[in-house]
Amino acid sequence: MSLRKTFQPYAIAAAAFSTLLAAAPLAAYAQDAVIKIGYAAPLTGANAGYGKDLQNGVQLALEDAKAQKILIDGKAPSFQLVAEDDQADPRAGVQAAQKLVDQNVAVVVGHFNSGTTLPASPIYDKAGIPMIDPAATNPTISGRGLANVFMVISNDAQNAGNAGAYAVDITKAKRIAIIDDRTAFGQGEADEFEKAVKAHGGTIVAREYTNNQAVDFSTQLTKIKSANADLIFFGGLDTQAAGVVKKMKALGMTAQFLGGGGVKDAEFIKLAGDAASGAMAWEYGRPLDELPAGKTFAERFKKRFGVDVLSYAPFGYDAAWAAIKAMQAANSTSPDAYRPYLKKIDFEGITGHISFNADGSLKSGLSTLYQVKDGQWVTIVTKSAT
Ligand code: ALA
Repeated sequence: MSLRKTFQPYAIAAAAFSTLLAAAPLAAYAQDAVIKIGYAAPLTGANAGYGKDLQNGVQLALEDAKAQKILIDGKAPSFQLVAEDDQADPRAGVQAAQKLVDQNVAVVVGHFNSGTTLPASPIYDKAGIPMIDPAATNPTISGRGLANVFMVISNDAQNAGNAGAYAVDITKAKRIAIIDDRTAFGQGEADEFEKAVKAHGGTIVAREYTNNQAVDFSTQLTKIKSANADLIFFGGLDTQAAGVVKKMKALGMTAQFLGGGGVKDAEFIKLAGDAASGAMAWEYGRPLDELPAGKTFAERFKKRFGVDVLSYAPFGYDAAWAAIKAMQAANSTSPDAYRPYLKKIDFEGITGHISFNADGSLKSGLSTLYQVKDGQWVTIVTKSAT
């Protein structure tokens, strides 16, 4: 085939395109092909509220990028959110990851649970697709040598580590008990909490566990009561944490309740009722209302989706922007082209400063202790990693 012949159809198309431009002068920038932004989290089941909250954060970022008319290689990218439900289940998480890879997504924001993120991340890594984790916090998510794993949230070595140090040094708890939900998250944070308690000279009098579907915690709490614990750390999420404090109250226990990440939200207070009073929880990052752009974000989110931020939406927003900014810097949506820029990303997100350590973990992670007072979470202290 001659060169002339090869170029002819293109020349015709180009001529047609310039006619089109002349006819539509307002189309100032060319529209690129659709860029698929993968998203995976629980969209059904007990964690679906978290999954939807995060998804809304990602959606808002894509809409903002469009409104700002950002250009990548001179073109306005048309981002499409491709969401897969991982059901908070490790096996479904692997299937969701494979589906996203098969759909040729340019990046994945996800997952929510450590239990799905740990098995899904090697699938993205093998396919060369960056995964930006906005919520899963097991410390081993980064640090496995996966070049495509990035976290915009601090991890449980930092967060539950702070909880353990605080329980011993500030709360002055003398007899500490632990219950966890045996997920990669709950067990992971309970392990980190225990390590920190011991490192600070504290005493663990009981270590109990449940599973992430359980609704009855009588057996574990009865044992903890007879061990005379004065503080109970729960490794798990809001719904079960609420069940634990309600049962503590029913059993007449006066021990202090302390949760790790994923407990501090309105759902916990709603479900726990009176029993929530005095409960404490360490949560990732800074309080939204103390962040420079936090209040505006919360208002815009409410206006757009008709609901308040539940918990992790700002991290979803920042994760999506980390990818968009890397693509802008690389002038490409191809992972191989933008990955080096993602590694070096450095910007002020809604949740704080976003930049990564060499292993993909968030640089300078923070966590904050909250306590329920008069039916509201109030901020006690924000700390960097211990
Ligand atoms: N931080 C929680 C987890 O890792 C949501 O599963």
